[in-house]
Amino acid sequence: MRKKIVAGNWKMNKNLQEGVALATELNEVLAADKPNCDVVICTPFIHLATVSGIINHEVIGLGAENCADKASGAYTGEVSAEMVKSTGAEYVILGHSERREYYNETPAILKEKVDLALANGLKVIFCIGESLAQREANEQNAVVKAELEGSVFHLTPEQFANIVIAYEPIWAIGTGKTATSDQAEEIHAYIRSIIAAQYGNEVAENTSILYGGSCKASNAPELFAKPDIDGGLIGGASLKAPDFKGIIDAWKA
Ligand code: 13P
Repeated sequence: MRKKIVAGNWKMNKNLQEGVALATELNEVLAADKPNCDVVICTPFIHLATVSGIINHEVIGLGAENCADKASGAYTGEVSAEMVKSTGAEYVILGHSERREYYNETPAILKEKVDLALANGLKVIFCIGESLAQREANEQNAVVKAELEGSVFHLTPEQFANIVIAYEPIWAIGTGKTATSDQAEEIHAYIRSIIAAQYGNEVAENTSILYGGSCKASNAPELFAKPDIDGGLIGGASLKAPDFKGIIDAWKA
């Protein structure tokens, strides 16, 4: 059975002290009331080593929001997958639309990052999703297919088992505008079908596909009730422990 996952993406929020406070609170809240799903927090690089020492990794997984497309060497300012792994992190988000758009991360660059992350024993939360213009032109299926083909469909089935997909329609990120549960389910089922076409039904059935984009405690139960939605990748609502816990609890509804 595939995993149910609620993952937080802190983005560029929280200084170190604030991040430590949030991780500490979340760790306490989830120790007191065990989640019914896997929980992951993805933090800025500088928080990873400290947060890793605070959380119970049996309950909360830790991830980075990015890693370098090179293994090591003279790449000033970059952070390698090996460095991420050495902090105790288990995950890395790759392919987020903000990285694709603002930092010009192409499918070829993301393919390098995916390969390095997997080679260093990290699981990858790989983000895909269309813009509003692409949705209005009914191109969403072609967009997500090309994103998968460009960066992860070269993997072997064994490697692909370490990929979690996050479908995040760009028009729903931080806008308060969520995809309807039917809209999300339709494209999640399509994504699973193309994974099945590439790797077979068993791999597709075992792949967790998360929804991201203005997901919150009020809409999570309806989204997570859909057969092909296996959890969420949460931005804004992951920055306060009660809000994030509310989404985690959607798996108890
Ligand atoms: P919001 O939940 O703030 O819309 O962000 C979603 C997201 O981009 C998670 O990666």
